[in-house]
Amino acid sequence: MVEHPFSFAISPALTLTDVAERKIIRRVSDLRRYFADTESLESMIKDGDPVAYEVLDIPRPEREGELISGLSILYPGLVGAEYFMTKGHFHAVRGTSELYYCLAGSGLLLMENEQGEWKTEALTPGRVVYVAPGWAHRSVNTGTDERLITFFVYPANAGHDYLTIEQRGFRKRVVNDNGTPRLVDGGADSQSVVSRLVGTPGSNQAPEKSELKTQ
Ligand SMILES: [Fe+2]
Repeated sequence: MVEHPFSFAISPALTLTDVAERKIIRRVSDLRRYFADTESLESMIKDGDPVAYEVLDIPRPEREGELISGLSILYPGLVGAEYFMTKGHFHAVRGTSELYYCLAGSGLLLMENEQGEWKTEALTPGRVVYVAPGWAHRSVNTGTDERLITFFVYPANAGHDYLTIEQRGFRKRVVNDNGTPRLVDGGADSQSVVSRLVGTPGSNQAPEKSELKTQ
């Protein structure tokens, strides 16, 4: 591990050059507890279990004063009506923040805190999102055929709390409503809301009013 300044480039092939990188690959099967439409998810797993996202980062000692940076590459796709998304997490050390810089694609960062507030911010090339301390965060690719690529930086001592989100989900889900991204409640009834949006046979309920707000 180097103990002096260094630089690196993000290559067009989406690798981090000049540095040792660590790669994590998440397939749809790794996201079993996250998407509402479990039937669609299981059938996608049977049909080849596509990669949902990859994370490349530069390992650093996980101590205060260090930074971890890297690339998040989120593929386009849908599970039922829900766009491909990352698991999402709080930082184990709640007082730590994160910065996302969008390089390619289109999507949003879905965020919420433990006081019940939630917020989305658009991710388009050139935009930077600052995730304030205490806010859980998840990337969502709302594009139809392009990867959503972001460069991230966070304090190396932040740690990851995936369990809170795995167990209770986010308050909002992002679904494709006839080609338009739309936020729906992510609570206990989200399965029926998401199914309704993809036209479950026998359902004649109109989709709920749009409440997508990118603020
Ligand atoms: Fe994070």
